[in-house]
Amino acid sequence: MHDNQTLTIQTHVDLAVKHTFALKATAAYYVAVGSELELQAAIAFAEEQHLPVCLLGEGSNQLFAETYNGLVINMAIKGIHCLEESNDSVIIRAQAGELWDGFLQVCMQNQWHGLDNLAIIPGTVGAAPVQNIGAYGQEVSNAIVAVHGVNLKTKTTESLTHAQCQFAYRDSVFKQRLKNQFIITAVDFCFNKQATPLISYAPLKQQFNNQSPDFLAVRHAVIRLRQAKLPIPSKLPNAGSFFKNPVVSPELSDRLCQKYPAMPSFPQANGAKLSAGWLIEQAGLKGKQLGPVAVYDKHALVLINQGGATLADVLVLKALIVDAVHKKFGVTLEQEPLIVDQDNSLQIKAG
Ligand code: EPU
Repeated sequence: MHDNQTLTIQTHVDLAVKHTFALKATAAYYVAVGSELELQAAIAFAEEQHLPVCLLGEGSNQLFAETYNGLVINMAIKGIHCLEESNDSVIIRAQAGELWDGFLQVCMQNQWHGLDNLAIIPGTVGAAPVQNIGAYGQEVSNAIVAVHGVNLKTKTTESLTHAQCQFAYRDSVFKQRLKNQFIITAVDFCFNKQATPLISYAPLKQQFNNQSPDFLAVRHAVIRLRQAKLPIPSKLPNAGSFFKNPVVSPELSDRLCQKYPAMPSFPQANGAKLSAGWLIEQAGLKGKQLGPVAVYDKHALVLINQGGATLADVLVLKALIVDAVHKKFGVTLEQEPLIVDQDNSLQIKAG
C-alpha cells in the first residue's frame, strides 16, 4: 500500500473480481479515483514510476492479461446533474464512474427518455461512448452531445463535441485516434421531451402485440429479452457480445444469402451486416467448450468463463471460432472487448 498524499494505492491486486469476465489476473498497482484531482494525482504517480496505466470502470468490456505490471485506475467519479432545460429538451451531465443502468434509472424517474432500450447493459457511463453501446435499435451516441476528459498527451481537460467523437457501430474516436490517450471523466446527454418509445427492433415489437407501450413497459421488455438470452456476469462471467456483427460487401452478402436463405442480413450504407451469433452457431460452435471457456449455449455471440480461465484460454477459443467461421463463410469476425496488457495501455507523455 502506498500513500501518495491524496491517494491510497494498493499493490498486487486481484483483478478477477473487478471485471465481468473474471479472468485470472493481478495488477501491480490499483487505485480508485473519486475526483479529477485524484485522477491527476494518479496519472502523476504512474508517470513518476514509469508505469503503464489502464482505466477500469465496471470492467464489462475488458479482458486482462494474467499479470498487469502497471497502474489500474478505477474511475469512481460520481454525479448526475441537469445543465440546461428548455420546453423541448434537457441536457444532463453524468460523471464517468456512474453505473450505466443506475444512470438510466435516474433518467426514468426524471422522464429523460431516449436511451431506454439500453437497459441493464453492464458498465459505466464513462465506458459507454468508447464502444458506442447499442441494443434494440438505440445507440448511446444518439443522445450524446459532448464527452469530457483528460487528454494524456497534454494532461489537460478537453471536451469533444458529438461530431468529434466520430461515433460508428461499436466504435468511436476513443477506440481510434484517441485510443490509449484519453480518459473520459463525464458525458453530456440531450433528452428530447417529445421522445416516444422506440420498438421498431423486431424482437422488441413482438413483445407488444400492436399495443403502444410506455417507457417503463419498454424497459421491462428489454430486461426480459436480455435475461432470456444473455448470461448474468455475476453468475456466469462474460463480456457480452464477444464479436462485432460483421459488415460485408453486398456481393458477399448476396452470395451467402443465396446459399443460406435463412441467414439474417441487414442492408447498410457500405454493404450488409450479418449476425455473428448466427454464423458461429451455423459453424457448429454453439455450446463449444475448450478448457474453462465456452461458447454460451443460449447465444453463440457470448463467450463464458466457467471458472479459472486466463486470457490465453480465451484467445485459443477465439482463434478456433474465427477460423471456423472464416472457413465456412469467408467472413472474418472482429473481437469486441478490449484486451488490457502492457502493450495496450494508456500512454502518458512527459509533459
Ligand atoms: N442468432 C443465432 N444464434 C445465436 C445468436 C443469435 O442464430 O446463437 C441470430 C438470432 O436469431 C437473430 C440474430 O442472430 O436472428 C441477431 O441476434 P440478436 O437479436 O440476439 O442480436 P445480436 O446481433 O446477436 C446485438 C448486439 C447486442 C444487443 C442485441 C440486441 C452486437 C455485437 N451485439 O446482438 O449487444 O443486445 O443486438 O440489440 O452488436 C453487446 O454488445 O455486448 C450486446 C449484447
